[in-house]
Amino acid sequence: MNALIKKENGVVFTPIWVVDFMIEKIFDSQKISGDEKILDAGCGEGVFATIAAQRFAKLTGKNISEVIERNIYFADISDEYIEKTKQNLQKLSKDKIKKFNAITDDFCFHDFNEKFDFIIGNPPYVRIQNLNGRKEQLQKNYITASNGSIDLYFCFFEQALNLLNKNGKISFITPNSHFHSAAGKNLRNLMLPHLIKIINFDHFQVFKDATAYTAITFLQNEKTTNFLYTENFKNDFENLEYKKISTQHMRSERWEFFDEKYLDKIVKLNKKYATLQEVANIHYGIATLKDNIYIFSPDEEDKNYFFLNNFKIEKDLCVPIIKASTYKEKNQNLFLIFPYKNEKIIPNNIFQKNYPEAYKYFLHHKDTLSMRDKGGGKNYEEFYAFGRNQGLKTSFGKKIITSTMNLSPRFYVIEDEKTSFYAGYCVKPKNNTDLYKLCEALNSNLMGEYINLVSKSYRGGYKSYAKSFLKDFVHPQFYKSQPALF
Ligand SMILES: C[S@@+](CC[C@H](N)C(=O)[O-])C[C@H]1O[C@@H](n2cnc3c(N)ncnc32)[C@H](O)[C@@H]1O
Repeated sequence: MNALIKKENGVVFTPIWVVDFMIEKIFDSQKISGDEKILDAGCGEGVFATIAAQRFAKLTGKNISEVIERNIYFADISDEYIEKTKQNLQKLSKDKIKKFNAITDDFCFHDFNEKFDFIIGNPPYVRIQNLNGRKEQLQKNYITASNGSIDLYFCFFEQALNLLNKNGKISFITPNSHFHSAAGKNLRNLMLPHLIKIINFDHFQVFKDATAYTAITFLQNEKTTNFLYTENFKNDFENLEYKKISTQHMRSERWEFFDEKYLDKIVKLNKKYATLQEVANIHYGIATLKDNIYIFSPDEEDKNYFFLNNFKIEKDLCVPIIKASTYKEKNQNLFLIFPYKNEKIIPNNIFQKNYPEAYKYFLHHKDTLSMRDKGGGKNYEEFYAFGRNQGLKTSFGKKIITSTMNLSPRFYVIEDEKTSFYAGYCVKPKNNTDLYKLCEALNSNLMGEYINLVSKSYRGGYKSYAKSFLKDFVHPQFYKSQPALF
């Protein structure tokens, strides 16, 4: 199968240790009669189907070929994979398998004649923009596909829920982006009343050759009122500690997995104190979309110019800038070429006249600049404009900055009003608040605890400090309706 088709079909194979766990747990969850129908949805080479067949035969004492013929179903859009799965199932039995329950079709549009007791698998991860012709059809047929930047695996969940028997169960390993994303809202609403258990792998990488933040989700057809949740997976499933989470505490805007104890604390804090967005504004930094052209450490300087790579840049076109993601209170000696006046781009003729050296420099880089935004850079107001207009005013002034990702809270006060920043966010109090006191609150253990619980994780233990998470932070120093904050 070629690489493009592989990408379009979201082909990634699941390691056996994960499949083993998923199948063991799903079979453990109920009494097995021996008549169950088990469906591997998006079977690939059949790792789920084969392990399920072996385990099911062992559990029921049934002959493996009988299990394959009667209990195991597998679906894939690719004939090649269906054939491969048949071969792999055949390898489990000395007898010739007389009949395979193979479905060579699009799982989302196949007309299934039966319902299933167990649906297992690793559905394809395909973003909507790569779905090509199927996009509109999916949007029409699937509530989970109806808004925004959805992924094909959303529809696999929805279809699988439709296909369950009364006591049926699902175990899928998928990305976890739908826990937080705006597009995932309908999927969250659909799944919530059916959740049994989530193992959120977070920054732990399950798939060797694909960076994906994944989770195993167990669902059942019958309604549930609470579910088990765990993260911080290290190396095995043995010592995981699960939190019991009540579904009524889950908000559909975003899933936050609060344990009961923390929830009590937050609810109490929320009643008494304000959120960060009520007491402060949070802004993005500058986004040039080509930082190595706009931002530099000068090789040398004189009274009027900075010198870099055989060019010189007029000093009065430059402002000091901080890279928030690496800032540690040390001078980074970084400058930004800032071709703006009063938040407006300096027009070409004036720019050429007043800043001929910087203009020469930008002309030299014109082709690279025009490739920003996948070539959309050609349509910027002036070719030397930043990729985004954010932060042209708000990145200046006194502020508290932080990176978009941190291991623990890292907020710094920046006093110099003429210094801008990028690669992060800034917080500016709405009132005349002492910046250092606010910064202390932002660097408190409470922030670390809050972010750990609500935010997205990345490789290496990093947590997202995105505005969408920061804005709801509550601290006892944020008084609800007082003119002075502290
Ligand atoms: C992430 S891979 C998983 C393969 C296998 N289950 C495993 O875990 O190793 C997803 C599989 O889904 C198949 N697939 C993609 N789109 C599909 C669709 N619409 N209907 C059925 N199968 C699909 C792909 O061909 C691929 O084999």
